[in-house]
Amino acid sequence: MRILVTGGAGYIGSHAVRWLAREGHEVWVYDNLCAGHRQAVPEGRLVVGELMDRPRLVETLSAHQIEAVMHFAAFAAVGESVADPAKYYQNNVVASLNLLEAMRATGVNKMVFSSTTATYGAPNRIPITEDEPQKPINPYGFAKLVIEQALDDYRAAYGLGYAALRYFNAAGASPDGDLGEDHDPETHLIPIVLQVALGQRQNITVFGEDYATPDGTCIRDYVHVDDLSSAHALALKQLQPGTALKLNLGTGRGQSVREVIDACRRVTGHAIPTLVGARRPGDPPELVADSRRAQSVLGWKPRYMEIEETIRTAWRWHSSHPRGYAG
Ligand code: UFG
Repeated sequence: MRILVTGGAGYIGSHAVRWLAREGHEVWVYDNLCAGHRQAVPEGRLVVGELMDRPRLVETLSAHQIEAVMHFAAFAAVGESVADPAKYYQNNVVASLNLLEAMRATGVNKMVFSSTTATYGAPNRIPITEDEPQKPINPYGFAKLVIEQALDDYRAAYGLGYAALRYFNAAGASPDGDLGEDHDPETHLIPIVLQVALGQRQNITVFGEDYATPDGTCIRDYVHVDDLSSAHALALKQLQPGTALKLNLGTGRGQSVREVIDACRRVTGHAIPTLVGARRPGDPPELVADSRRAQSVLGWKPRYMEIEETIRTAWRWHSSHPRGYAG
């Protein structure tokens, strides 16, 4: 299939691009490189453009006879979305709607959309099923939910086929060691801990040790980027006009912040000094996926079920690219 991947130069998108290309798809990346990396995209496959530039999107979709879009391009920092909601509504909502219109203008009627566990807010039940009410608690989650709703309305009215894949905590790196996470500034737990192991930071601050969890720190479900990629490829195969798939992607296993740091100690052999800080605003205590629906609907099975294995792939990337793609 001929696929356009928006945000294909970013962390999750670049892994998906590689996965899709290996499965034999013809893949093009559309990215403005504000957070993505040219080096993460296969030679000759990058279109540098803005999602707000509808003529350019239309031209790109037509020129490459695109049949489906995977839409990763978005800002994804929860705290920033609280401080600067306009940035999130403009980029994650308005620009996504612009992309949908460009698709409509060119007759492209399949989309796999990067949604998020943040659409559930602070859920009532763990593990979280797709039937959990979606009540976001920050602008990032609201913006993603708006697009989920738009996709469903476009499906009903215009026959769009879509999958909204609700990721839990994306983690790890390509086992080849040449694609990985490179954010500036970095806010995510595992890369920050690995930067401590590399000597780039003195310590890691644990955001809150007074949660109602067994060790008092927040619990998350860390799902490997390549497992996310395989789910995207499987979802794409199922899309027909009018298809609606809303699926959680996680391992079903929760790890506390302390457990993640301990696993990083075992993988890296570094002591990793920690400090304890205040809770980070907007952090729900526990987010763990029930992804049985994705497993049965897609035939998906996450391969990375042990956090240490996931961290090992991240460590391979960070230790061989201590300055990220720039190095
Ligand atoms: N944490 C620390 N110290 C740090 C960084 C993180 O203790 O220096 C903790 C956080 O408080 C949280 C856990 O580690 O409890 C994981 O934090 P991340 O920032 O790595 O990930 P989040 O769970 O906050 O965010 C992820 C995705 C978002 C998505 C969100 C949904 O990155 O895009 O899950 O809740 F929206």
